[in-house]
Amino acid sequence: MIILGIETSCDETGVSIIKAAGGRARPQFTVLAHLVASQVKVHEPWGGVVPNLAKREHQKNLIPLLKQALEESKLLETEPAGKKVENKIKKTLAREPELLEQFLAFIPHLKKPKINLIAVTQGPGLEPALWVGLNFAKALRAVWQIPVTPINHMEGHLVSPVEAKVKFPILGLLVSGGHTELVLAKAWGQYKLLGQTRDDAAGEAFDKVARLLGLPYPGGPALAQLATAGTPGQFDLPRPMINSPDYDFSFSGLKTAVVYLVKKLGTLDEQQKQNIAVEFEQAVIDVLLAKTKRAIEEYAPATLIAAGGVLANTHLVAALQTMIKKYPTTQLLIPPHHLSTDNATMIAMAGYLSAKKKSRPATLTAQGRLTL
Ligand code: KG4
Ligand code: ZN
Repeated sequence: MIILGIETSCDETGVSIIKAAGGRARPQFTVLAHLVASQVKVHEPWGGVVPNLAKREHQKNLIPLLKQALEESKLLETEPAGKKVENKIKKTLAREPELLEQFLAFIPHLKKPKINLIAVTQGPGLEPALWVGLNFAKALRAVWQIPVTPINHMEGHLVSPVEAKVKFPILGLLVSGGHTELVLAKAWGQYKLLGQTRDDAAGEAFDKVARLLGLPYPGGPALAQLATAGTPGQFDLPRPMINSPDYDFSFSGLKTAVVYLVKKLGTLDEQQKQNIAVEFEQAVIDVLLAKTKRAIEEYAPATLIAAGGVLANTHLVAALQTMIKKYPTTQLLIPPHHLSTDNATMIAMAGYLSAKKKSRPATLTAQGRLTL
């Protein structure tokens, strides 16, 4: 089947089209189009993501991305006559006037593409941003009569490295800008949250510490880059909750420790910044690894999936790869870079893997705090 994925939960607009076969037990995915429009330039002057700017950018991006995705997938066929669809969708896109305008100029001139399912992120994320994708999916459903499945963004991250058969139980270490969680999956769609961050997410901590060191938004990648030149062990930073008897995390204390350190040191030279960056990064990695190891020992998962934007961090990846050697019965899966940060391919994949046998009329409402 052909699945259109739509992702608008934060600051990346994602549109993907995938071909999925093999069933949920042995899925095979072929990516026909994988498009991400980054909003980094728009949010950069503000030092972080501004929800209403994100909403505006998603509105601008969706139709051009869909057009390109249909072209790349060879699913774009125009229809000279043009259908009348205004009345059907004016209400649906009433709160997205810029998107409505582009929608009306483009969609009525298309033949219904051979798409079997639309998968769209429902949450968690920024609600104004989520609504754009959801209303877009609803409008497409109204015109094309294609079913829509709402997807949990974190389930998208979890399934992102799946290429073929994976063995259950799966332990998921999901580390992004908004979340840090350990999840146990008995099957696709059957999740138990083992633990999560009590305050800041790991990616958020990366972003905040990057700002403290004077790096531009988005801080995570810049901080990781700075860390590559640093020497670990030059500064003393805490490993919060590393020994707590649960699977929760806490990163705000680590960030505060960096605040005090920076205050104490005064003006920082480049080498000090590099050494703080590497020690901070190591502290995050130490905590993530300690909790993951403990979960492996308790639940003996057949697969460990580590995913989310922070898995773009090569030191974290290397640390996980070394750690997993001690557990030969657990296979480690990590998505490639383009699937670890936010994208719509993972949302389309989740649409295939988690699709209920009989899809109920989906309740397509944004849920900013949706959990697995
Ligand atoms: O999953 P994601 O793209 O968006 C959310 O759903 O939050 O994750 C983005 C997070 C940001 O906090 C970003 O700074 C972080 O991932 N990140 C990194 C790296 N690349 C992105 N953190 C550490 N090292 C990196 N190389
Ligand atoms: Zn994400």
